[in-house]
Formats: sequence, structure tokens, C-alpha cells
Amino acid sequence: MTIRAVVKGVGHYLPKRVVENSEFEVSLDTSDEWIQARSGIKRRHFAAEGEKTSDMAISAAQAALSDAGFEPNDLDAVIVATSTSDLTFPSVATIVQSGLNMTGGFAYDIQAVCAGFVFALSTANAQILSGQAERIMVIGAESFSRLMDWEDRSTCVLFGDGAGAVLLQAERGKGSSDDRGILSVDLNSDGRHKDILYVDGGVSTGQTGYLRMQGKEVFRHAVEKLAQTASVAMEKAGVRAEDIDWVVPHQANIRIINSTTKKMGVAPEKVVKTVKDHGNTSAASIPLALSVAKANGQIKHNDLIVTEAIGGGLAWGAIVLRW
Ligand code: UT7
Repeated sequence: MTIRAVVKGVGHYLPKRVVENSEFEVSLDTSDEWIQARSGIKRRHFAAEGEKTSDMAISAAQAALSDAGFEPNDLDAVIVATSTSDLTFPSVATIVQSGLNMTGGFAYDIQAVCAGFVFALSTANAQILSGQAERIMVIGAESFSRLMDWEDRSTCVLFGDGAGAVLLQAERGKGSSDDRGILSVDLNSDGRHKDILYVDGGVSTGQTGYLRMQGKEVFRHAVEKLAQTASVAMEKAGVRAEDIDWVVPHQANIRIINSTTKKMGVAPEKVVKTVKDHGNTSAASIPLALSVAKANGQIKHNDLIVTEAIGGGLAWGAIVLRW
């Protein structure tokens, strides 16, 4: 008998304001054609003035609770993956706890930028397997529009805001790859690449700062490292590319998604793609994609899923789970 962390509910929130590529044509030397051809992005959502990462996280968590049929006080823990917390502290997770009127358990944030949700899911899985918690809400929530330099066309057209949440619960499994729940995890980071994707502000500078990225370099690392981590996670889970029902990749660039999944040997029709409508929402992109894919009938009970992400650090990883 083995304990597995099984997905019991999923939900998401997207801010009301939708920004089409054409809006950027007014102020920047760019075009809808370039943005779509180079990134696959057509539109993204931006948080309203005053709308915070925690507000989006709370809405996504409420949707996941309702999907699972649980109350906030049924949770043992809340983990939020974010690089855009409302304030330096407290954690977004404790603000979510308060917003849900959850009076027990524990709550904290994880910061691994675009790979944050994979790292948070891995941590939640470890706490469930160790018996520290039975039910954990794992949220990815971001307001990357707050980090954009609106004069830098190479970055500001790529990112969006939103939140997604997944509720995990301990269940008994047989210990085989037929079990539902998280089957394997592979995490990596390499701080030698910290300067190719970063924000040039923070506590040490006294300003929030702007996102800076050497896009081509990040792209090169992404394709190689994502295919590698996915293959390690699949090997650890004892599954092959032909067993996979869905790849749910971090949604940064359609060309990265297509190259990576081709390297993995997974057919294009088995890949969940939301980058066109959401842009890159960093740690929110995977739970958002999971929630949208479940809502539109793509992901079903018992489906075998690989999810993978890479971001600033660099930090990257993959998880194999059965839905
Ligand atoms: O989530 C974290 C991980 N992040 C990523 O995975 C992002 C990885 N990188 C990428 O997605 C791509 O590298 C980009 C979409 C950022 C850029 O695509 P690219 O094919 O690598 O283009 P590039 O940076 O080589 O730029 C090509 C040209 C340049 O002009 P020159 O030097 O050839 O004259 C850029 O100045 O495109 C120009 N350019 C633009 N043109 C119109 C850059 N941004 C824009 C723009 N509109 N918005």
C-alpha cells in the first residue's frame, strides 16, 4: 500500500480585462503578426487597478474547493507559487487563508518563478506522502503585468495575469503507475544562468523593478531542459511517451511547446495549449491550463498527464500524475 496525492478539484480565475496584441501596436514598434508568429500569443488578461495576486488566488481556490465539494476548513494547508506577491510579506498564502476564512492548518509561498507550480506541487506531494498533511490547496497566482517595462517590446507583449488552483488529497494506491495521483517528480535548478531572466528590482534596490530577459538564450535552454526533465520524470514513473494522454506544459511560447513535445515523442493533439489566450502567466500557467482543459472536456478521470516548466534561476522540473 502506498499513499498518493490525488487531484480532487481544480479551478482558475482570469481578470476581466483582455488585451489583444493589436493594443501594443499603438505604443510600440510591434505587430500582431510578429507576436503570434514568434510566441503563439494572441491575447492576455491584465489585472485591474488595485486587483492583487491574492485576490486572483482566492477566486481560483474557491473554484477548486467548489469543484472538489470541500469547505476551506477541510484543508490542512495552502501553498501559493508566485513571484508577484502583494507585499514583501506576509505570504500570499496566508492572505488566501484569511480570505477563505480558514482558521487552521498552515500556509506559505514558494518562489521558483515560471517553474513555481511544479515546485509547489512537488512540496505538497512530499508533505502528503510524509503524513504531514492530508489535503493541500496548491495555487499558482501571478500579476506579471506589474513587472513589465512597457517600452521593452521584447518582453511586455509576452506576459499575462491569472491564477489556477489544484486541491490534492491523500489516498491509498497500489504503488504502480496505474494509481491515481502524483506518480513522479523531477526538479532542477542552475544558478549559473540567473542573469538571463530576472527582475532588476527588489528589497536590495528599493524599487519593484522590471523583468529582463535574454529571450533567445532562455528559449535554447527551455527546449533542451524541458524535454530532459520530462523524460526523467516519465522514467521515474515507469511510463512511456505512448502511455501519455496529455502533456500540460508551462505556457510561455508555442514554439517551445511544439519543439519540446516533439522531442518527447508525444503527438501534437495530446498537448494542452492555452498560450494563445493567456500569454505567459508564469507560475499560474499550468494550473490555469489544467483547469481550462478539464472544463472543456480534454482532461478526464484516470488520464495520464505530464506537466513541465522552466523559469528564472534557471529552475525547471516535471511531474507525472494520473488525474
Ligand atoms: O516563462 C519563462 C521562460 N520564458 C520563455 O520561455 C521565453 C523564451 N523566449 C522566447 O519565447 C523568444 O525568444 C521570444 C518570443 C522572446 C523572442 O523570439 P525570437 O525568435 O527569439 O526573437 P529574437 O529575440 O531573436 O528577436 C528577433 C527580432 C529582433 O530584431 P533584429 O535584431 O533581428 O532586428 C528583435 O529586436 O525581433 C525583434 N523583436 C520584435 N519585433 C517586433 C523583439 N520583440 C519584438 C516585438 N515585435 N515585440
